[in-house]
Amino acid sequence: MNKNSTSILIKNGTVVSSSSQVKANILIVDGKIKKIGDMNISEPEWNDITEVIDASNLLIFPGGIDAHTHMELPVMGISSSDTFATGTRAALYGGTTTIIDFANQNRNSSLSHPSSQTEGESLNHTLDKWFKKAEGNVYTDYGLHLSVTVINTKTLDELKGIVENRGVSSFKTFMAYPNMRISDDEIATLMREANKLGGLVTVHAEDGQLIESLIEENIKERNISPKMHPLNRPTIAETNAISRLIDISNKEQLPIYVVHLSSADGLNKVRENKGAGPSADAGVSAKAKIILETCPQYLVLDDSKYLHKDPLEINKFVMSPPLRESGISNKNQNELWKGIAEGYIQVVATDHCPFTLEQKKLGINNFTMIPNGIPGVEHRLEILFSEGFLKGKITLEQLVKVWATNPANIFGLYPQKGDIVVGADADLVLFDPSFKHTLSVKNHHMNVDYSAYEGFEVTGKCKCVILRGKVVIDNNGTLKINQGYGKYLHRNRCLHY
Ligand code: URP
Ligand code: ZN
Ligand code: ZN
Repeated sequence: MNKNSTSILIKNGTVVSSSSQVKANILIVDGKIKKIGDMNISEPEWNDITEVIDASNLLIFPGGIDAHTHMELPVMGISSSDTFATGTRAALYGGTTTIIDFANQNRNSSLSHPSSQTEGESLNHTLDKWFKKAEGNVYTDYGLHLSVTVINTKTLDELKGIVENRGVSSFKTFMAYPNMRISDDEIATLMREANKLGGLVTVHAEDGQLIESLIEENIKERNISPKMHPLNRPTIAETNAISRLIDISNKEQLPIYVVHLSSADGLNKVRENKGAGPSADAGVSAKAKIILETCPQYLVLDDSKYLHKDPLEINKFVMSPPLRESGISNKNQNELWKGIAEGYIQVVATDHCPFTLEQKKLGINNFTMIPNGIPGVEHRLEILFSEGFLKGKITLEQLVKVWATNPANIFGLYPQKGDIVVGADADLVLFDPSFKHTLSVKNHHMNVDYSAYEGFEVTGKCKCVILRGKVVIDNNGTLKINQGYGKYLHRNRCLHY
């Protein structure tokens, strides 16, 4: 071992990987996991150990990968309130050591639909803008997806360089939002072109035409109060869109990734369509053509939030798709949890897109003016553990898969990231499984003045977080790194199984 190398020994923890739970020690050398087990450590190795961490009574999870965030996202003349610095610092407190944020191509035109009437911003320019925001500011490691809002030869010609030279191998498309949505044929074109390069297309699956006609009708009738938001975006908008995506995927024989699935009906579309979900023999995630992502908010919150008398209270929860009804049997939430356990839902990401109360006030009397999105990057693990594992809905291995391993596999980060295996980056969360606490704006680290989970009681807490072999949050909750410690991840081909 060379003189400058650093070693950490984590002793007596229970190591939870995507395939097992074992009581074991972990030896980290130069930022990588070198050994896992009941190891014999040789004399020279002992001499190099700079830190021993006692993880007795703690679980050790891989560092989380949040594959869906929006830091400093420009919308309607404002930006989401977490910068890359504040948002990724908060992410670390919740055990997330890698984010993949969305860089959105600007159409460069007030023309909304169809996108073919506008040339659109160069995709490389879009990425330049996002790198400028992120570089030198990020605390977690990070990658970028690219949202493509204009499909033409100019943008398609840029794809190869973007995948190969800039390490961006996943693209987002929108079926909703008039200023961003593209046609089904355009989605198919992008899927074909991306696939040739090892890229994957992700989709915001809501039927834009249906939503726009409901919005238009409500505006005509002057029904513009925030409580109309969920009525403008009914579940059928999601199921229509998913049905169309199943058709596209079947026709092209290519996979597609649906972001922020919100409903049991949407999940059932994939379940009913033989061959669209994960193949039985390959187990979770492997050969699915429709890859589903959901978010903690759809697993634990419901549309009763839209019944509040105070419109600002409603606006706190305005996101697209909206929260769904719980009903007598809590069907939406229960089915989504089941979808995780079955392997249909392969990723839980946060869609973190926070706006302050002042920003949410912009739409206090008018749903068309509410910035959409909620904060959550800090709470994914604690909600998955407390509401999912402790309530018997998912196993710890299933938790690890949707929390880290599957997003790493799907988005070209495995085996560097996503699991506790020898050779991987030592990104680890030391987690106290019995620590009870309450989620609140009073103690969260996100740059937003309300919590979507205010008063939510959880059991289990991230105690210490390690990123590339460095303790980044210590046992006392102290941040141990400077802004800019996070590295950009040049991602490989997607869907490595
Ligand atoms: O309401 C949401 N989800 N805002 C963020 C942008 C998106 O559609 O993912
Ligand atoms: Zn979306
Ligand atoms: Zn989003």
